[in-house]
Amino acid sequence: MIFTDDLADTIDALNLRFTAGVRAELADLTRFLTASLDWLMVEHFQFSSRNTSFLATAAGTAAAFVDKSIEAEIRRNLAEESGHAQMYKRALRDIGIEVDARLEFPPTAYFFHKISGLLTPDPSRMLGAMYATETAAIFEHEVFRDISKEVITRRSADWSGSRLKQFHDMHLSGVEQSHKDELGKFLHGLSVPTVAMTQAGGGRTIDAARAHDGANNAIDAMTLWWHDLLSEAYVADSRRSAA
Ligand SMILES: [Fe+2]
Ligand SMILES: [Fe+2]
Repeated sequence: MIFTDDLADTIDALNLRFTAGVRAELADLTRFLTASLDWLMVEHFQFSSRNTSFLATAAGTAAAFVDKSIEAEIRRNLAEESGHAQMYKRALRDIGIEVDARLEFPPTAYFFHKISGLLTPDPSRMLGAMYATETAAIFEHEVFRDISKEVITRRSADWSGSRLKQFHDMHLSGVEQSHKDELGKFLHGLSVPTVAMTQAGGGRTIDAARAHDGANNAIDAMTLWWHDLLSEAYVADSRRSAA
């Protein structure tokens, strides 16, 4: 278990361990058939399309905090995300990928079930989970930018003017970094396990141990989801290669 005297740094270290593992598996995209890379994007789109409902739930849970700026930040994030799933869907359609033609992939449904379970009812657990997923969003846009570039290049289509490039670049030019940083402000300086839950003025303050637990659970859920996604991609590739 990783602990530092700064909860945001602790969660970052946990996240880095998870993302470094996935990045290593995706370092050489030539290992994957195009159909599998297309499929990975369709599954990532599922998160994009659920994101606003996760944020709305999280904002409702954050209302229990004494510090109202936590809810305000999540609502700012929610407003910013509105319309993004449609943009992503259109960008994928440009290269011939129809997200609605998808077959259900149970690990994705299971992942969403676990994330949604972390967003309510405990506000500290929600805050830790949200910080972890917003941090991972930067990594996701980076790897899916690379995947997009790879499949567009394989299709001999135009990458530099593509909506997929615009979509990922827009997120990577500060949007996701600010989602992470603005939530991180509430977690910097807290440490686990020295900070105990306190109740103040009819509302909740941040319980660092619970926030850590929420982040840890969210990162475990993301690690498992990515493991399942990549396993499925490998299996589908070998099936297609054998056909
Ligand atoms: Fe977005
Ligand atoms: Fe975000």
